[in-house]
Amino acid sequence: MKILVVGGGGREHAIIKKIKENKKVTEVYALPGNGGIAADATCVNIGAKDIPAIVAFAKEKQIDFAVVAPDDPLVLGAVDALEAEGFACFGPRANAAIIEGSKVFSKNLMKKYGIPTATYEVFTELDAALKYLETAPIPTVVKADGLALGKGVIIAQTREEAMSAVRSMMEDRQFGESGSRVVIEEFLTGPEVSVLAFTDGNVVRPMVSSMDHKRALDNDEGLNTGGMGTVAPNPYYTAEIANECMKKIFLPTMHAMNAEGRTFRGCLYFGLMITPDGPKVIEYNCRFGDPETQVVLPLMESDLLDVMMATASGTLADADVRFSNGAACCVIIASKGYPVKYESGFPMELPADLGDRFIYVAGAKRDGERLLSAGGRVLGVTAIADTLDVAVQKAYDHAGKVQFENGYCRSDIGARALKALNK
Ligand code: AMP
Ligand code: GLY
Repeated sequence: MKILVVGGGGREHAIIKKIKENKKVTEVYALPGNGGIAADATCVNIGAKDIPAIVAFAKEKQIDFAVVAPDDPLVLGAVDALEAEGFACFGPRANAAIIEGSKVFSKNLMKKYGIPTATYEVFTELDAALKYLETAPIPTVVKADGLALGKGVIIAQTREEAMSAVRSMMEDRQFGESGSRVVIEEFLTGPEVSVLAFTDGNVVRPMVSSMDHKRALDNDEGLNTGGMGTVAPNPYYTAEIANECMKKIFLPTMHAMNAEGRTFRGCLYFGLMITPDGPKVIEYNCRFGDPETQVVLPLMESDLLDVMMATASGTLADADVRFSNGAACCVIIASKGYPVKYESGFPMELPADLGDRFIYVAGAKRDGERLLSAGGRVLGVTAIADTLDVAVQKAYDHAGKVQFENGYCRSDIGARALKALNK
């Protein structure tokens, strides 16, 4: 089978390595992929948002199945365009990807269907938003409606900070059209859990839970990033909470999308907060998380491609979706200076995968035989083991074998989870 994967980061590298475990796969094309992914797939220089070129390429190669991984092409309708030409795809259509593409949509959906989330107000006028903030409870959370490269959420500790966030979104259009509407919501507290779930509109099959580490520096200090590391499973996500989430969040979300005529088929990502009042939705994503995927898929015992094809065809109920009882840790190696200002083009030498230790390349270019860093987050080094403490040790041990002088990583990925486990 010829498989096309749209995207080119660490998440896509993890998806590609897992898909290749299926013996029927003869060829994987990554659009655009990257210099590291090139070791595992044929990378083709077509941008993930260039939908006409993606469809033309699928036709030219007569691919058998497509996986659209990033948010942008999903929200822009890449799956709709591929399906219109008869290609089977993993990923939601645009009318379902809106669950990530518009925070106003997702908040209104949760309100309408009684799905637990932070209370909120929506504003389309700057003056009304500023007036509301004069008396709103502080801290508060300001969110741009649309996609904003993961930067459209401001946790404001003061009224002034909240007002300046609203101004930069609505007046200065820091995120362009994404800021034409803003959501101002209640500040919630509690540990955060990421749960990725396969769903075809008939059933929801959650994957193993995980924990992201978003801040750039140890002890959750420094700026917000795309994610500096992950562990799975997340110790705060107990069996009891998992049951509660299935009943109050996962199934109601699937039914709500069906009722709206927006059946979601693909990977639905639940960003949850375990508050003193129970689990609540912080955000939905319409795709696999990055770097959550880099710990979740290595723990998957069943065949990813089979599960993706079952999801696409609406037969997920019959699919074998299994995860090991072990643990995984992924340490991200980023370019020094990320997420603000950094340089690319540094040579890298990577240790080989070992069966329980994997390197996922997020940002790299090839220069003949050499691999050069390219981008902010550059590598994800994952290890799996029976227990989390060993997985963390192995991941750092393998990361230590990477040669990349311009790289840095956090030294405490997994520390919070281990503390919760009393280790
Ligand atoms: P996002 O950029 O959408 O991934 O959100 C960034 C982070 O903001 C989340 O991971 C949470 O830590 C935090 N966050 C978002 N909404 C809330 C909220 N209502 N209360 C507290 N923290 C929040
Ligand atoms: N790791 C968070 C995300 O993928 O949005």
